[in-house]
Amino acid sequence: MSDQALPGDRPDAPAEHAELDGRTPAQKRIGQGSSTEGVRGEERDDFTAAESKRLRGRSLRLLGSLVRPLRWRLVVMALVVVVSTACQVAGPALIAAGIDRALPALMSEQDWAPALLVVGVYLATGVVGAVLMAQYTVLSARISQAILFDLRKRLFLHTQRLSLEFHETYTSGRIISRQTSDLDSIRELLDSGINQLVQGLLYMVFTAVALVSLDAPSGLVLAVALVPLVALTRWFQVRSQRLFRATRVTSARVIVHFVETMTGMRAVQAFRKEARNEVEYAGEVEGNRGANSKVFTLFGTFDPGLVLIGNATLAAVVLFGGFRVIGGTLEIGALLAVALYAKRFFDPAEEMAMFYNSYQSASAALEKISGVLEEQPSVPDPVRPVDLRHARGAVDFDDVEFAYSADAVVLPQFDLHVPAGQTIALVGSTGAGKSTLAKLMSRFYDPTRGAVTLDDVDLRDLHPKDLRRAIVMVTQEAYLFSGSVADNIALGKPDATRQEIERAARAVGAHEFVMALPDGYDTDVAKRGGRVSAGQRQLLSFARAFIADPAVLILDEATASLDIPSERMVQEALQTLLADRTAVIIAHRLSTVAIADRVLVMEHGRVVEDGTPADLIAGTGRFAQLHAAWRDSLV
Ligand SMILES: Nc1ncnc2c1ncn2[C@@H]1O[C@H](COP(=O)(O)OP(=O)(O)OP(=O)(O)O)[C@@H](O)[C@H]1O
Ligand SMILES: [Mg+2]
Repeated sequence: MSDQALPGDRPDAPAEHAELDGRTPAQKRIGQGSSTEGVRGEERDDFTAAESKRLRGRSLRLLGSLVRPLRWRLVVMALVVVVSTACQVAGPALIAAGIDRALPALMSEQDWAPALLVVGVYLATGVVGAVLMAQYTVLSARISQAILFDLRKRLFLHTQRLSLEFHETYTSGRIISRQTSDLDSIRELLDSGINQLVQGLLYMVFTAVALVSLDAPSGLVLAVALVPLVALTRWFQVRSQRLFRATRVTSARVIVHFVETMTGMRAVQAFRKEARNEVEYAGEVEGNRGANSKVFTLFGTFDPGLVLIGNATLAAVVLFGGFRVIGGTLEIGALLAVALYAKRFFDPAEEMAMFYNSYQSASAALEKISGVLEEQPSVPDPVRPVDLRHARGAVDFDDVEFAYSADAVVLPQFDLHVPAGQTIALVGSTGAGKSTLAKLMSRFYDPTRGAVTLDDVDLRDLHPKDLRRAIVMVTQEAYLFSGSVADNIALGKPDATRQEIERAARAVGAHEFVMALPDGYDTDVAKRGGRVSAGQRQLLSFARAFIADPAVLILDEATASLDIPSERMVQEALQTLLADRTAVIIAHRLSTVAIADRVLVMEHGRVVEDGTPADLIAGTGRFAQLHAAWRDSLV
């Protein structure tokens, strides 16, 4: 595993902000942007050359598509930054002109014109520079916001469109990192990294040009100073890259450990893992502290190094220039301007050295985001969708084979005909393939071979809207979204009236407990007092399915959290509600079987028994044994 997989290497905040909140720039630089990812080796970076070329191409394509709509704004922004930087750099040269030209003219000839001109131009460049600087800040912020908005939206819409297969393999932690720390590192690059690089580069180039054109020999001094500057910066880049990465890895470890402990608190306390956690966590925290202190040491060398080079250069320029002023080959104003330029030249150096770090983490983030965006749904929408407004509900598996991955076939050869309106109980041992069958039936996956059809229409051709209306699956998960109880039930039919919602709740026996909640149907399920139990959640998700009124209803362990009376109540409700629709009920509790027209026993991806409950119970097969054992357990 490599630690480079960690995103969130964020550039420093601008120094002035850092000072505002009382932290040094170095403090701000570390301890930011960690993510729990990478620590478990989910992503790797030991790519081959071809692979990294492909990744870079992918990132560039994404970048191009993001920037293209903004290109004219970028041109305007470039003009603004060039002019504003030129205005800022003009200051010392104007001072030189003031001292060397305007002042003598004023003193010897009482000529005010040059002095007024210099002062006027100085003020004008100051004002224009400041106004354009403000413009630049606003423009660049708008552009970066537009890019981020676009990217965030695309990422969300695309991830939502991807099939279940993607979400079952790409863990939620990783997808959260894409939306948070990855977007953050791109934001940091756009908001400060690139601005600092562009402004810094222009500033340095303009300053150098101004300095050389005022006094070429001083340019030589500056050129000599560039040698240690470049060496120091390079040294800093190489070391900082390694050290920053170490801080991210160690801080991600701390977070992973923390999150795991907190989410698994019940297991931690039940198995008395506290003492071991204490030792482990202390180790992680110590590792993080060590990594951070190395970063401080690095800045402790780099920052004074920059100051030293700057001061030495200034001293050399002044000394060298001073001799020439005495010798009469350099004017005093020019010396002052050259000294100012030499001093200012080094101002952007630190920010530019940091750019590399922020660039690297942003490009890693962009690579990962573009990877998600280029993912195609494994269950694509049909090109020519077939409408099926009113499905009857006949489902067929026609010579179906299915495998999640090439090496493990879950359903080797599957044929099944479910006539419209039939209620099927699907039983079988753990891992037999029952949920897989349900996922194929509701087209969360497509079969590897053969076809699943609804009323003789291949599910792959069915209009997605009709598919989702006709076939509804209720699982054990029973997810509730934040919002009221009524909203959650109405998810199955967004335009449902309060009467319809109540009727659905009554039908599944949820009405009583809903009325007992603080605000009845308007209770917010995310708030205290609105918290419902696992069984109540299942009842609500039942109500949600019934209000959707599908032709085919699949219940995968949907009653597993209910107590026996509630389950019985749901079953009574089911009997009437399933009368005119196709239903597949997967349950380990055999009580469900009573209401089924037909029982399928599945083992290792095959149907091993198929018949009416009465026939199977009367026989000697697997189901008869299961049923006998179950009946014995009841007495
Ligand atoms: N997303 C997946 N990726 C890869 N393999 C999977 C996936 N889901 C299930 N499997 C495998 O497919 C087989 C059948 O799983 P399935 O969930 O259909 O069993 P099941 O009959 O529903 O079991 P249970 O009664 O425990 O719910 C198992 O061997 C399982 O390991
Ligand atoms: Mg299952």
